[in-house]
Amino acid sequence: MNVIYCDSLVIGGGLAGLRAAIATGEKGLSTIVLSLIPVKRSHSAAAQGGMQASLGNSKMSEGDNEDVHFADTVKGSDWGCDQDVARMFAQTAPKAIRELAGWGVPWTRITRGERSAIINAQKTTITEKDEVHGLIHSRDFGGTKKWRTCYTADATGHTMLFAVANEALKHNVDIHDRKEAIALIHANNRCYGAIVRDLVTGELIAYVSKGTLIATGGYGRVYKHTTNAVVCEGIGAAIALETGVAQLGNMEAVQFHPTPIVPSGILLTEGCRGDGGILRDVDGYRFMPDYEPEKKELASRDVVSRRIMEHIRAGKGVKSPYGEHVWLDISILGREHIEKNLRDVQEICEIFNGIDPADTEVITDEQGRKRGKGWAPILPMQHYSMGGIKTKATGESPTLAGLFSAGEAACWDMHGFNRLGGNSVAETVVAGMIVGEYFAEYCQGHDVDINTHDIQKFVDKEQNYMKSLLEKEGKFNVFEIKNKMKDVMWEHCAIFRTGEGLAKAVK
Ligand code: FUM
Repeated sequence: MNVIYCDSLVIGGGLAGLRAAIATGEKGLSTIVLSLIPVKRSHSAAAQGGMQASLGNSKMSEGDNEDVHFADTVKGSDWGCDQDVARMFAQTAPKAIRELAGWGVPWTRITRGERSAIINAQKTTITEKDEVHGLIHSRDFGGTKKWRTCYTADATGHTMLFAVANEALKHNVDIHDRKEAIALIHANNRCYGAIVRDLVTGELIAYVSKGTLIATGGYGRVYKHTTNAVVCEGIGAAIALETGVAQLGNMEAVQFHPTPIVPSGILLTEGCRGDGGILRDVDGYRFMPDYEPEKKELASRDVVSRRIMEHIRAGKGVKSPYGEHVWLDISILGREHIEKNLRDVQEICEIFNGIDPADTEVITDEQGRKRGKGWAPILPMQHYSMGGIKTKATGESPTLAGLFSAGEAACWDMHGFNRLGGNSVAETVVAGMIVGEYFAEYCQGHDVDINTHDIQKFVDKEQNYMKSLLEKEGKFNVFEIKNKMKDVMWEHCAIFRTGEGLAKAVK
């Protein structure tokens, strides 16, 4: 049997896992991070628009503070979150931003001179004396009272991930990539690590630890249409549930983002609308102000997603070979703004759809309908899992001691029924910081008191299970079954759900 011992085992090498690993690494605990892929390719890198923290630096965020951020988060959650956790989160986010700046994240900063901002599609000029040159900037995001989303252009997750991964190495965090945790080792309601499959050799390895933290991200890939990367299959939640001891929470709370591009499903950030982009229907008409006169395109994202689907159902969608969609128009922001602040979006539009979103030319189609050459086809798709491994405020499972979870894999419950844009990358580093401390404390205070014989039983169980799968000669193709399940989830368990639809899905 191949056994590797460590003090702290972190399953998942995205922002939350790496930040928690730094907390244990800096205390001298031997720490291993397992990752399916090289950690700098983790799905955290796909976070585009930014991270909420109430710095209050820019003109449009004047008067912002932790209380306002807390209130927005609670309201945005449809009053469904754990308010103690949301409070802790909002208090810590500014500290996390500054820590990241110290680790080299090149936050977009306020520059000297006049600047025009597009607010509700109206150009507004902000002058030099309104703002302080050099401070960390923020942009507008849905469902917030102030401009609070700090960003590095539209590649925020990418820059954060590189900085945090580099910092982890400084603290001797040992990264084992191309490894898949397939079961947790546990006894007497305590977790002792995981059984892990080496994705290169196929070998099973027992990673035995004092404490285990799961940060494997969400379960978006159970849906047919999602912005999530292929690795986001909810493996962390699955192995926790399979212990029969740890519990999951809020699994029905799934978020749909209004503006992934059709058909690939790649995200076009909320920053597009935050910076002033608008939504148009089949007639080129800007429809959101009719539904949401106050916040328009920047109502919270669950609301915008529902409004788009209602509008399409009312016959206003654009027909395409990939189904109906509406348009996102950012051409009105101007080429200079797009090339500076939304350059990833521009590249995605160009590479995947052959569109230059800065192109302002409007053409008339065969039916006499107007369409901007730069408008991008978008449709709401699955984006975020509010549910996950149920934890206490410390990040520890209430039922399985020594098992912690952080980030999207966890139901720390700061998002309730809906998460605000910009609060997820913020949660990764804030939870990594807070939960990481509790995790480190646990690992410092406990020993590995499970014997080799019991560990061997877990290895044997997984080995036998895999063998039994390989020996099966059933006539069904697993990939067809999986795709069918994704279709069922999309049809019946997505944006609108009914009792009848859910019953059909279960059947
Ligand atoms: O639209 C976005 O940039 C996504 C942000 C988020 O999910 O927090």
